[in-house]
Amino acid sequence: MNKVLVTGGAGYIGSHTVVELLEAGFNPIIVDNFENSDRSVLEKLKLLTRKNITFYEGDFGDSRLLTEVIKNENVSSIIHFAAYKAVGESVKNPLKYYQNNVSGLINLLRIIGNFNVSSFVFSSSCTVYGEAKILPITENEEIKPASSPYGSTKQMDETIIKDFVLASNSLKVASLRYFNPIGAHPSSLIGELPLGIPANLVPFVTQTAAGIRKELVINGNDYPTPDGTCIRDYIHVVDLAKAHVNALRHLLNQKEGYYDTFNIGTGKGSSVLEVIKSFEKTTGKKVTYKIGPRRQGDIISAYAAVDKAKSILEWQPTLSLEDALRDAWNWQQSISRT
Ligand code: UD1
Repeated sequence: MNKVLVTGGAGYIGSHTVVELLEAGFNPIIVDNFENSDRSVLEKLKLLTRKNITFYEGDFGDSRLLTEVIKNENVSSIIHFAAYKAVGESVKNPLKYYQNNVSGLINLLRIIGNFNVSSFVFSSSCTVYGEAKILPITENEEIKPASSPYGSTKQMDETIIKDFVLASNSLKVASLRYFNPIGAHPSSLIGELPLGIPANLVPFVTQTAAGIRKELVINGNDYPTPDGTCIRDYIHVVDLAKAHVNALRHLLNQKEGYYDTFNIGTGKGSSVLEVIKSFEKTTGKKVTYKIGPRRQGDIISAYAAVDKAKSILEWQPTLSLEDALRDAWNWQQSISRT
């Protein structure tokens, strides 16, 4: 029945992936503790997909719950989203990050080892590369010491999973290194729900346009880039969600003991100013901004080489930056109304 356990399935990327899994004929089972997601997402998923989705409330680090779900549901694959992701918070509270993102993962792998779980898709991040030497960044880029505990946890997780696969020679794993996920489902039923003041660019842009924030501060315009602002690879969350389905399909066709990493981005870099201009042009809404100082730890430029995902996962992005910004704005308007 292709039962796929989705940890953090009510979260931003998790919820979009659940939609794509259902569309592709998989049977997702969500485990979420709503620590960084909202209960209403489950209703929205039902509305969007017209399907009843199996859901367990709880922490993926709860061994008893995880064992029960994997056993009772006869789970054959896992997509593991549940993790902390705020860079600044990870600097202030590193143990929280190592506990959840690293110890939690080890616990999950231990449990998997006792059951017939064959495929595992891991949420990694382009943060593992830091400031890359060569652009676009390929998966062969050297991994340098991480610039935050959050980044460290993703690097450690990749190493732990790789070693586990080598030792167990049973599991098949794809680590997807996300670039910058943005946007929302075109239905405006699901999207990103940042807690408090958003740290990421696009939610801050949409909240500023909606009048929730007074002005956006651009974190420095004196970088060695064409317009002086940092460059990132912004990928539509629906394209990113589809990459998980392709990764899963790919894993199902592999022999046991498989591990590989894949960049998931668009291959195109956009500067902060370009994102703002594109948002204004696409939506007709003005974004008030000013130039501020550089943000500590920011890298100058990061965009992906996506040839590996294209050839091996047979995946490629289909949506543009404009599509993502339009969908992010429609989503912002829909949540502002409620
Ligand atoms: C951040 C995380 C990264 C994580 C990713 C997930 C940091 C240092 N990195 O990436 O580990 O995987 O989110 O999406 O936090 N910007 C402004 N003003 C703002 C907000 C952002 O100018 O109010 C700029 C940033 O300085 C950066 C760009 O916009 O140049 C993108 O920022 P952001 O959306 O936070 O993403 P990353 O920093 O790339």
